[in-house]
Amino acid sequence: ADNLRIALAGLGTVGAGVLRLLAENGDLIAARAGRAIEVVAVSARDRGKDRGVDLSSYAWEDDMTAFAGRDDVDVVVELVGGSDGPALALARKALAGGKGLVTANKAMVAHHGLELARLAEASEAPLRYEAAVAGGIPVIKGLSEGAAANRIERIYGILNGTSNYILSKMETTGRDFGDVLSDAQALGYAEADPTFDIEGVDAGHKLAILASLAFGTQLDFAAVDASGISRIRAADIAQARALGYVIRLIGLADCDERDGTRHLFQRVAPYLVPVRHPLAAVDGPTNAVVAEGNHVGRLLFQGAGAGDGPTASAVVADLVDIARGNRMAPFSQPVDSLVASTPADP
Ligand code: NDP
Ligand code: HSE
Repeated sequence: ADNLRIALAGLGTVGAGVLRLLAENGDLIAARAGRAIEVVAVSARDRGKDRGVDLSSYAWEDDMTAFAGRDDVDVVVELVGGSDGPALALARKALAGGKGLVTANKAMVAHHGLELARLAEASEAPLRYEAAVAGGIPVIKGLSEGAAANRIERIYGILNGTSNYILSKMETTGRDFGDVLSDAQALGYAEADPTFDIEGVDAGHKLAILASLAFGTQLDFAAVDASGISRIRAADIAQARALGYVIRLIGLADCDERDGTRHLFQRVAPYLVPVRHPLAAVDGPTNAVVAEGNHVGRLLFQGAGAGDGPTASAVVADLVDIARGNRMAPFSQPVDSLVASTPADP
């Protein structure tokens, strides 16, 4: 079969990780996907930057939106970030022009997911964003394929690797918040604006995406009640421990139907977790998602929630999905048939 030809926008932590993964596992991926994934063109801000990967065999575009007009590109991979700006311009143009889109950009999906899904539907182009939620954990595939037969009753978990890294490091070392945040930034876990990580916004983006999938509701990030960990001190962690708890930043969503209306509750907040609960043992940049289905019971998805290798793994899994011609999409029903929900009273 013909190669799946991709163009890669963004060559930072995740973009360079995707190139490394494709270079190392390309043969295995081609065998599993039924055809090779071929990088045709790349783009980033600074052409001269040394990224530790060889870019010499790819075309370079200064303007990433030019990918949408290239006849030699089947799928655009957006790894730039930002809810609006160049990432959104590229996503709109690619989907409207009938190209597939794979993105790790939860901010963009949380704010513009409905519009992008409508564009994808109209041009019958694949849209995938596994890496946007919980890094390397295949939680979108787990929910939309593995748990497809279930009514999901509640979904919750640790959705931000940076916050979890900070909390667990403060717990084990007693170090200060700011000091540990710098480590998380240096390790490539944090967002370009780390306040998104520490104020619960990034976890809120991911929760809104998960909730829409779990409950078949329209994505509604504005209704997420989000707070973060920036005011937690080492002393609070020590006090929680003395009482038999650890502190974890948890995103939680549930949904109930009253008077013919779906009421969706979405909250991100620091919770006290009993030391023996499985989420208490989740440390470092690890994420964990618990989904409760009415027949399968409690599912726990756990793994690396941030970092180059794990996130690239999820991005390339989406490309494999598209290469196989899998019609399954996160929104596998027409997007306008999804129910708009009313925020539940807290
Ligand atoms: P980085 O900041 O490491 O990389 C961003 C890339 O985009 C860089 O190559 C940068 O170019 C390029 N870029 C930024 N702004 C522009 C612009 N205006 N025009 C052209 N190129 C631009 O980010 P990450 O790789 O960490 O993240 C990428 C995406 O993946 C984000 O949406 C993020 O939320 C998401 N994500 C990240 C995870 C992680 O662990 N890092 C995990 C899951 C999702 P240059 O290099 O030249 O500056
Ligand atoms: N900044 C994000 C985090 C990256 O720390 O979880 C993964 O989405």
